Amino acid sequence: MKFLFLLIIAYLLGSIPSGVWIGKLFFKKDIRLFGSGNTGTTNTFRVLGKKAGTTVLLMDILKGTLATSLPLIFSLNVNPLVFGVAAVLGHTFPIFANFKGGKAVATSAGMILAYSPTFFVYSALIFIIMLYITSMVSLTSMISAILITLSTIILPFAIPQILPKFDWLLTVIAVALTIFIFIRHKDNIKRIKDGTESRVSFGLGAKN
Ligand code: G3P
Repeated sequence: MKFLFLLIIAYLLGSIPSGVWIGKLFFKKDIRLFGSGNTGTTNTFRVLGKKAGTTVLLMDILKGTLATSLPLIFSLNVNPLVFGVAAVLGHTFPIFANFKGGKAVATSAGMILAYSPTFFVYSALIFIIMLYITSMVSLTSMISAILITLSTIILPFAIPQILPKFDWLLTVIAVALTIFIFIRHKDNIKRIKDGTESRVSFGLGAKN
């Protein structure tokens, strides 16, 4: 009963459509009608600027972190990743925004933060390096998802200081989320192939 209740709370937390609400509340703009039409951090940066983008990034990460921390807060002996996944599903299919949400990246990062802060820092570094190399957030998100998934297998044996033990559930969820992230980026993949995908400067200001 407690499990189901917390699972719903995790989904509802993930469902908070930060980008949509901040756009409507402070800018009188629905970001779904501009840029890529996505509700996430990248489109918020693109449409509403750095302050709003940073706020949405932090909120979307926090949703995943809070949801993943629920079993710890409410003393429930269930792998916390289960609640992280519920938040990611809420983020992509939000009940508060007609079930049309983001592309699963920031909230998944929040889940990793709650699971292991050192692995989060490692993952964030991978993301920053890939963003610097590719200058495309979408491509960075997909490549990082693959690299982070591989790292869940390699790190426990190679550098246990970053990820101390192999957790099969973490790897299974990472594989599933990577596939999911690719599916959510299908329009971006088309644009990358056409050479029309939006690029960012390293300061995250949109170049086109
Ligand atoms: O996390 C979403 C990002 O990878 C792409 O966003 O707005 O460029 O489709 P967007």
